[in-house]
Amino acid sequence: MKIIIDTPEKIAELAAERYVELLNRKPNAVLGYATGSTPLGLYAQLAKLNAAGKLTFKDATTFNLDEYAGLDGTHEQSYRYFMNKNLFEHIDIPMENTHVPSGTDTAHAGDYDKAIAAAGGVDLQLLGIGHDGHIGFNEPGTPFGSITHVVDLTPMTREANARFFTSIDEVPTQAVSMGMKTIMNARQIVFIALGKDKAEIIKKMIDGDVTTEVPASILQLHPNCEVFLDHDAASLL
Ligand code: F6R
Repeated sequence: MKIIIDTPEKIAELAAERYVELLNRKPNAVLGYATGSTPLGLYAQLAKLNAAGKLTFKDATTFNLDEYAGLDGTHEQSYRYFMNKNLFEHIDIPMENTHVPSGTDTAHAGDYDKAIAAAGGVDLQLLGIGHDGHIGFNEPGTPFGSITHVVDLTPMTREANARFFTSIDEVPTQAVSMGMKTIMNARQIVFIALGKDKAEIIKKMIDGDVTTEVPASILQLHPNCEVFLDHDAASLL
């Protein structure tokens, strides 16, 4: 892992440069995207660079990490809706090239890995981290060999995400998520963590053992993973 510590603004710029480099080298790259608060600065930056002609997504393909079970793409809290509103509608990607796991047809979740493989595999995967160390929605205990699967969300994750819903009761109890193996198969990873509330888990992820109890700790083993941290998230290192 290569660790880069900077301001959130600069991190958005530096992370966006990775997309410029990749898409200029490989215009039909496969991009793995994440939702949540963390990538919003990067997504704004990508839209800005796209509008300025510094990169194009017209031949790119995308696969998102996860989706809530039970929500279809028109639901305002679905991750499909989030991606459309926060990125896809602001860049030149053909909507048919974008993929988010289905939240309503969860019986064949593993087929998502087949679709990723058929597209050539993920070139650049973006990741954030949950307070319990989850990446995607792979909660502590998820086997490192897992592929895309249905997961039970922990009370901690449901509580963290309740801020987007009117009450915690509305937060789904399950999600579909790329597995740990799916994520580790990406050729390059851009990981971002911002804020003091992430400092403790960042310390465990970087300085602790590689263990399924801290899913993100597996990134210590990835051959091409950059970890972008703001000063707050890096404050316990
Ligand atoms: C979202 C995802 C999650 C988030 C994590 C952090 O697609 O896979 O692992 O990255 O929960 O969320 P934020 O960025 O809201 O702190």
